[in-house]
Amino acid sequence: MHRPHKLTILLLLLALAAGTLCACSPFDVASDVAVTSDTAEDLVTVGFSQLGSESAWRTANTKSVQDTLTTENGFFLMYDNARQLQDQQIKALRSFISQRVDAIVFCPVAEDGWETVLGEAKEAGVPVIALDRNIVSKDQPLLTAFLGEDMRTEGVKAGTWLEKELKKQGREDEDIQIAVLEGTEGSSATEGRSEGFLAIASRHQNWHFTAQASGEFTRAKGKEVMKRFLSEFSDIDVVIAQNDDMALGALEAIESAGRLYDAEGEKMILISYDGCKEALEAVTNGEIDLDVECNPLSGPKLKTLIENILAGRSYSAVNYMPEKIFTRENVDQYLDSRMY
Ligand code: AHR
Repeated sequence: MHRPHKLTILLLLLALAAGTLCACSPFDVASDVAVTSDTAEDLVTVGFSQLGSESAWRTANTKSVQDTLTTENGFFLMYDNARQLQDQQIKALRSFISQRVDAIVFCPVAEDGWETVLGEAKEAGVPVIALDRNIVSKDQPLLTAFLGEDMRTEGVKAGTWLEKELKKQGREDEDIQIAVLEGTEGSSATEGRSEGFLAIASRHQNWHFTAQASGEFTRAKGKEVMKRFLSEFSDIDVVIAQNDDMALGALEAIESAGRLYDAEGEKMILISYDGCKEALEAVTNGEIDLDVECNPLSGPKLKTLIENILAGRSYSAVNYMPEKIFTRENVDQYLDSRMY
C-alpha cells in the first residue's frame, strides 16, 4: 500500500472530526465512523467517480457501492458525482491518482475520450475499474477490469421479445412504426442497446424507425420528447425507452394525450430497460409491456474484484451482471422484494 495517502486520509478524517473541513470538500467521505491512525493504515482507499444522478437506477447503483465499500468492510471510499460532465470525471480521476488511492472505480459517462487519463493512471500504477458502462475497445487495455451490464445483449433481448410479441398478436407482416427514446449520446448504454436492438430489427423490413431522439435518461426529458413525437406522428405502434425514467415520463405524455390505445383499441407497445420498482408496477398494470433488466447492484461483486486485484489473485478482466427480463407473466414474483 502507498504510505503518503494514508496520512492524507488520516488528516482528512481528523479534520472532519474537528469540524474544520466543510461538506463542500472535493470528495464526500464517511465522517460518522471513528477511524484511528491504526485503522486508517489498514483501509483500502478507493476513488469512485459516479457519472451523475439522472435516474432511479443510478441512485441504486451509487448506494450499492457506498453500502459495500464501507470502513467496516475495510475500505475508505472517496466519492465524486460528475453531474454528467466528462471533464469533471477526468478531473476526479486525476485527483484520485495524485492522492495515490489504492484503486479507482468510475462509471464512464461516455465511451470515448479516456485514453490520456487512463494512461496517467497506468503510469502511476493505480488499477482502474470501469463500473456499469464500458469504454471504446481501443482504450480497454488501459483498464484493469470492467464490471457492468451487457448493454448489447439487453438490446437483443428487447428485439427478440418484440419479434415474438408481434407474432403472438398476428402482426408479424404489418408495418410497425417504432419511436425510440435514446439515453445519453455517446454512452455505452445507448450505443449497446441501440446496436443490439438493430441487429434484430434488421431482420424485419416492416419495422420502421419513425422517430428517434435523446431523452438523456431522465423522466422530464423523456416526457418532453415523447410529447413531441406524439404531436408529430399520428401512428406509433411501439415505444422503446432506453431506461425506466424516460419510459415513465413517456407514459405520462402518452396517457395525457389519450394515446395508449389507438382507434381500433390496439395498445401501444412499450418497452423499457432497468427494472426499477416503479416501472415494474407499470408492468403489473399492463402499461409497460417489457422491462429488460439492467442490474445496478454491483457493489458486492466490485468489492471482491478490488480485493482480488489488490491481493494479486486471479480475476476476470470482463465481468457482467446477471440480468432478467420482466413481463406481465413473471413480474409479480419480483415486485415485493425490489428495493429500488
Ligand atoms: O448505464 C446504465 C443506465 O444509465 C441505466 O439504464 C439508466 O437508468 C442509467 O441512467
